[in-house]
Amino acid sequence: MFSHKALEKNIGWLMVLTFVIVSFGGLVQIVPLFFQKSTTQPVEGLKPYNALELTGRDIYIREGCVGCHSQMVRPFRAETERYGHFSVAGEFIYDRPFLWGSKRTGPDLHRVGGRYSDDWHYTHMMNPRDVVPESNMPAYPWLAEAAADASTIQQKMTVLKNWAGHPYTDEEVAAAPEMLKDKTEMDALIAYLQVLGTHAPKAK
Ligand code: HEC
Repeated sequence: MFSHKALEKNIGWLMVLTFVIVSFGGLVQIVPLFFQKSTTQPVEGLKPYNALELTGRDIYIREGCVGCHSQMVRPFRAETERYGHFSVAGEFIYDRPFLWGSKRTGPDLHRVGGRYSDDWHYTHMMNPRDVVPESNMPAYPWLAEAAADASTIQQKMTVLKNWAGHPYTDEEVAAAPEMLKDKTEMDALIAYLQVLGTHAPKAK
C-alpha cells in the first residue's frame, strides 16, 4: 500500500505523511537549540541594558528604526568586512523582543556601538544630511527636547528581572530614575546605540 507510486496518487496520505516528515525535520533542527550553550548562554561580558540604554531601546522601537535597520550581521565575507564579527545568538540574550529586523534601507546597526562619537550621533540624528550628504534617513530633532521618561523604568526593569531573569540588582533598579535624571530621549538613544554589539566574540 505504501509504495511511492501509491502515495503520490493518494492525496490524503501524501498530505499526512508530508506533514509528519516536515514536522520531524523541523524538530530535529529546532529542539537542540534550546539545549545548546552557544544559543542559551550570554556571551562573555554581556550585561543587561542599563536604565538609560533600556530607555533608548524603547525609543528605537517607538520611532520605527527597525523598519530601515537590521541588527544582525550575517556570516558572509561581504558583511563581516563591512560591519565586523557576525552576530551570535549569545549576544541577544537580553534583547526582548529581538530587533533583528529584515529591512536594510540603512546599514546594519548591530556593530555600530563605539564606531562613532556621541557627537557624531547627535549631529546625525538632528539631521543626517549634515554628516552624510546623500542620506535619506529622516531627522529626529524632537528627541533632543523630550525628557527621558523615568516614570516606568523601575517597573520595566523589575518585570525583566522577575519574569525574564535579567540579572538586575536591587540597587540598579533603585538607582534607575536617578540615571535618567536630566537626560533627553536623544541621550538615551545614543547610549543604546553605543552599546550595541560591543560584546562581539574575539577574533580567533
Ligand atoms: C527611512 C529609513 C530610515 C529610518 C526610519 C532610520 N534610518 Fe538610520 N539610516 C538610514 C540610511 C539610509 C542610513 C545611511 C546614511 C546615513 O548614515 O545617514 C542610515 C544610517 C544610520 C546610522 C549610521 C550607521 C553607520 O554605520 O554609518 C545610524 C546610527 C542610524 N541610521 C540610526 C537610526 C536610528 C536610531 C533610527 C530611528 C530613530 C533610524 N536610523 C531610522 C535610513 C533610516
